[in-house]
Amino acid sequence: MTAIEQIAAIEAEARASLAAAGDDGALAAWQSGVFGKGGSLTGILRGLGALAPEERKAVGAAANLAKQALEAALAERRDALKAASLAASAADALDVTLPGRPLRRGRLHPVTQVRREILDIFARLGFATVEGPEVELDEYNFGRLRIPEHHPARDMWDTFWLDEEVDGRQPLLLRTHTSPMQIRHIDTHEPPIRVAVPGRCYRYEATDATHEWMLEQVELLAIDEGLSLANLKGTLQEFARQMFGPERRVLMRNSYFPFVEPGVELAVDCFACPGDNPACPVCRGAGWLEIMGAGMVHPEIIAAAGYDPERYTGFAAGMGVERITMLKFGITDIRDLHANDLRFLSQF
Ligand code: DAH
Repeated sequence: MTAIEQIAAIEAEARASLAAAGDDGALAAWQSGVFGKGGSLTGILRGLGALAPEERKAVGAAANLAKQALEAALAERRDALKAASLAASAADALDVTLPGRPLRRGRLHPVTQVRREILDIFARLGFATVEGPEVELDEYNFGRLRIPEHHPARDMWDTFWLDEEVDGRQPLLLRTHTSPMQIRHIDTHEPPIRVAVPGRCYRYEATDATHEWMLEQVELLAIDEGLSLANLKGTLQEFARQMFGPERRVLMRNSYFPFVEPGVELAVDCFACPGDNPACPVCRGAGWLEIMGAGMVHPEIIAAAGYDPERYTGFAAGMGVERITMLKFGITDIRDLHANDLRFLSQF
């Protein structure tokens, strides 16, 4: 092989290996393999001095041409690799101009909305919010509320009992109403008392469109000197107006609860119709909607807590939060409220 042929072979081999070099490291290795101290082309250039003058001229010219060509090829390969790597990183880059995926915003459960609204209204009227246990003693749920064992009024509030035994009895139950907190509160606080008590209650009952085995109530209790039925009516009337609209009128009618005397039922006039529309989904033509039980705290309850019932009087009320929620939003089946169906709940 002549020196010229050898140069051509070196160039061909170098071009082939350059095409296979895929990154900066490979390019650097290629560069020293061709142009470095022991590089293939460097060997030829070094050997020029040993050649005869006329041969040296021709071989030197060919070697320089090959050197320039390979340098140009190296620059070109470097540019090509750079462009390819830029294109690759652009492909998996984050496009900050894309609109984000919207977050699904939650909302408060309708019963929570209404419970908070009830408590806000009573807070503005001076009632502090307090809470009590859902697992109650029968003494508080019934006995001290003047509902002794075997009293027929217990039938109104059948409930779930716990297996726990105390002195051979099973005194623990799931409270059927928030009224036991009346007793707990007067036992531990001195008049004047003004509290609102929200909380879950439980009843052993078959469910239908207006009954659930779990319900929320808000209990109201006020004890002070000189409180009368007029204070009860005024308080509840103001509540009804703020809850159902400024035009609302309230109706009190006689009712019976063992822990109040007199006991009343409070109704508001229908806010969905003039009161005479038999097709009204809210009142069905009755014109009045019962929203709670209430009354003057029985003097025996005040005396049992250690206060003089001649000096202190009080009123109490208990309302169902689901019932008020249904009235407010026009919901016709109470079971929808706790079925956890977002298609239903997201309407409110
Ligand atoms: N606790 C009663 C119930 O669940 C409601 C009630 C009636 C509460 C009269 C009261 C009241 O405070 O005075 O049916």
